[in-house]
Amino acid sequence: ESASSSIHSAGISGNTSTLRGHSVVTLDDLSPQQIIELLRKAEYIDSHRRQVMHTCDGRILATLFYEPSTRTRLSFETAMLRLGGNVIGFAGAQLSSVSKGESISDTLKTVSNYADVVAIRHPKEGAALVASRAASVPVINAGDGGHMHPTQTLADLATLTSRFGRVNNLTVGLCGDLTFGRTVHSLISTLCRFGNVRFVLISPDELKTPQYVLDRINDTPSCSFVQTRDLVGVIGDLDVLYMTRVQKERFFNEDDYLRLRDTYILDEDKLRHAKPEMAVLHPLPRVNEIAVEVDNDPRAAYFEQVKNGMLMRMALESSVLGDELPGYEAWSGK
Ligand code: CP
Repeated sequence: ESASSSIHSAGISGNTSTLRGHSVVTLDDLSPQQIIELLRKAEYIDSHRRQVMHTCDGRILATLFYEPSTRTRLSFETAMLRLGGNVIGFAGAQLSSVSKGESISDTLKTVSNYADVVAIRHPKEGAALVASRAASVPVINAGDGGHMHPTQTLADLATLTSRFGRVNNLTVGLCGDLTFGRTVHSLISTLCRFGNVRFVLISPDELKTPQYVLDRINDTPSCSFVQTRDLVGVIGDLDVLYMTRVQKERFFNEDDYLRLRDTYILDEDKLRHAKPEMAVLHPLPRVNEIAVEVDNDPRAAYFEQVKNGMLMRMALESSVLGDELPGYEAWSGK
């Protein structure tokens, strides 16, 4: 079942025109219906690339990346270019006036004069919220420290929808660095809003899920969780296995990182214990967590996530700018 058929048959429609001018710091800033509408828009964009190529003509996106990135920055930028807009920004704050001590607020007040929308990545939790309060244009969080990564979650939801036709009634295993993995925190928080998910949280004791994320599950009557260190012992129960990298950059102590980094390595041998239709997700970049041999397994979905990330960012950028996708209204009315 495709994403659109399940969404259409559910009769759910969210009005993303209400996103015009809004910042997205976490996905709590969007209603579940608006998230579903973005999924539907991304599907439309994928099948109508030429029709949407002038949607954001004359618009400018600023990407302010204070931390390294490949997928997030390049897909934010590609998304705007594919919609007809242009891109400014920096990748690495050392070449901007941040290196002279300029604050996030002053940087955003400045860039608001140049750009129509901003994507920001920063090593400090809460930086995107500060940026959104200072800016006079929409700000999209492209990852703030170990906190949240809402547009990665949009990519993850699109991938679950294309694999399963739904984002709930699933057993979702999350494995690796659940303490510092911001994609994990965003995904759990968002899946709880759709309900009916059983989470299996697989990590060493030192890298367990933070309490504020567990509280989201506890506060959702239709969701539950178990915590374990044993990947092989639970892999057969899972519909989804979301692998994560141990986040070296968030460790205070290199010895701890070296001790923990290879705790979980998914390979074909372990996958023999998994369901044939289980989906393996990973936000990437990977280091050692997934053996390259798994890339050829039909359960590997992580490069689909990459493609979905670009499409979802196209849907989000056009929505916060209030730019309508040509032909979309008639298509979604079918
Ligand atoms: N998934 C993700 O955030 O990748 P990058 O760090 O390469 O942007």
